[in-house]
Amino acid sequence: MPKDDRVLVSFESADDAAVVRLDGNRFIVQSVDFFTPIVDDPYQFGQIAAANSLSDIYAMGGTPLFALNIVAFPIQDLPKTILSKILQGGADKASEAGITIAGGHSIDDKEPKYGMVVTGEVEKDKLIKNSGAQIEDALILTKPLGTGIISTAIKQGYADQNQIDIAVKSMSTLNKTAAEIMNDLDVHAATDVTGFGLLGHLLEMCKASNVSAEINFKNLDFLPGVRELAEKGIIPGGSKRNLDFVNEYVHFQNSLSEIDQLLAADAQTSGGLLISLSNENADKFLDIFNSTAPFPAYKIGLITKKTDYIISI
Ligand code: CO
Repeated sequence: MPKDDRVLVSFESADDAAVVRLDGNRFIVQSVDFFTPIVDDPYQFGQIAAANSLSDIYAMGGTPLFALNIVAFPIQDLPKTILSKILQGGADKASEAGITIAGGHSIDDKEPKYGMVVTGEVEKDKLIKNSGAQIEDALILTKPLGTGIISTAIKQGYADQNQIDIAVKSMSTLNKTAAEIMNDLDVHAATDVTGFGLLGHLLEMCKASNVSAEINFKNLDFLPGVRELAEKGIIPGGSKRNLDFVNEYVHFQNSLSEIDQLLAADAQTSGGLLISLSNENADKFLDIFNSTAPFPAYKIGLITKKTDYIISI
């Protein structure tokens, strides 16, 4: 890869979005994501895919400017009304984020796929990377965990309507409020919890920041019914792979069962923000966030100096 001094954040640091300097204090922050349907309702799928795409901009402390659609659809085999509903879901989330969808690209494909390229901006001193976590920081998570297990249960027909409704509500909730509150506080590091799960994304944050983390499993919040589904063996392959991958870096207390470990490693879609900040600012964040957000944020643990294991839980 050729070196470019204008590129502040790229592949190397496993961060959420690319950050490129325009001039002086102005930085573009940009990310792309798309995936296959994880719920049956096309409108909700569109909302979730858009919220997920926007999330990487919020995780960097950025403000979205505009988006482009990425669409794959079996135009011969499925009614066009389904495509319209997917795009409407995306458009409604974009307007909730205060941006327009300025274009996009579609292809004919056997399996539907939807997502967005989102372009945002951030001031240099408001940019939040995953590499700034400091010893004694509190760790906050802004959404419950378990969307991977619920999505798998939906595919296999095991999720009840209440579980589906709550999971959809969580996945389609924008991380906008969290980003706005972060902007007013001195946040040291943040990332959004998605495919690598809580442990995978925390591992990236700790490695990039050269610190370790202690998580209190009892503080983790899960969507309703997730543990029961996991005990029935309804666990996505991605969550098992996540646990395999993080295992050598994580010390699990003996009291945690394999199900507990898998729950903590569950692959998320459009998850919450994982935020590292002083304990005092963590309390300020929770006060403001929890007075309005549909799902409360909560403290899950703290950052420590680097130890043999990168994460203890
Ligand atoms: Co991300």
